[in-house]
Amino acid sequence: MSEIVFTGVRHGYGERTVLRGIDLRLTERRIGVIGANGSGKSTLARMINGLLTPDAGTVTVDGLDVARKGGQVRRRVGFVFTDPDTQIVMPTVAEDLAFSLRRSGLGKAEIAERVREILVRFGLHEHGDHPSHLLSGGQKQLLALGAVLIRRPEVIVADEPTTLLDLRNTGIVAAALDSVDQQVIVVTHQLSLLTGFDRVVVIDEGAVAFDGSPENAIPAYRALIG
Ligand SMILES: Nc1ncnc2c1ncn2[C@@H]1O[C@H](COP(=O)(O)OP(=O)(O)O)[C@@H](O)[C@H]1O
Ligand SMILES: [Mg+2]
Repeated sequence: MSEIVFTGVRHGYGERTVLRGIDLRLTERRIGVIGANGSGKSTLARMINGLLTPDAGTVTVDGLDVARKGGQVRRRVGFVFTDPDTQIVMPTVAEDLAFSLRRSGLGKAEIAERVREILVRFGLHEHGDHPSHLLSGGQKQLLALGAVLIRRPEVIVADEPTTLLDLRNTGIVAAALDSVDQQVIVVTHQLSLLTGFDRVVVIDEGAVAFDGSPENAIPAYRALIG
């Protein structure tokens, strides 16, 4: 597993302070991040691969400062967004997966092999030539996850990956995330996703309000909401 370290992380947008001194060392395989809307979860998640850099303090991944080594960090850390439509760029499913490897330096044959592997793995093998926009919401999120996994990152960060999905598709995406060998950090409001997780961090008003097992974190979160 990678070691992700937040040290004294503060961040704001304009006048508004959103993260107020986050210290975390994340090394577990399955980590959940929960908290109210606007508490700062996405801000925190985006820092793990340098999509955002902190105003103060540092975030490192295996010792690499995300503010200074963003390129190297992004090769290790893949990011899955809430809305797969923002991530799917190519007209067909197979093309979209191959597009992820356009700068990988891999040859055509190896790219084709990796694309096939992902299609099979996510039950999309009959959809390779299908227009991406015709997939179901759940299939689109699987494609977005596949387009991240195909680069073989060591860490996957997923920001509310099931929020736009119905119950069935949530189950499909949850199972796919569960099947991943990599370290996974999931921001979610779907508390059932956290079953079996190694660690859950509760964020409240830009600070860590609780940090522990899902069994203890979920009641702590409920108590915060009051
Ligand atoms: N780009 C931005 N510009 C201004 N304010 C922002 C921006 N992104 C987030 N915010 C604000 O920062 C706060 C925390 O946002 P966010 O990290 O997205 O929280 P969460 O993911 O927990 O809902 C919210 O009040 C949000 O409105
Ligand atoms: Mg968010």
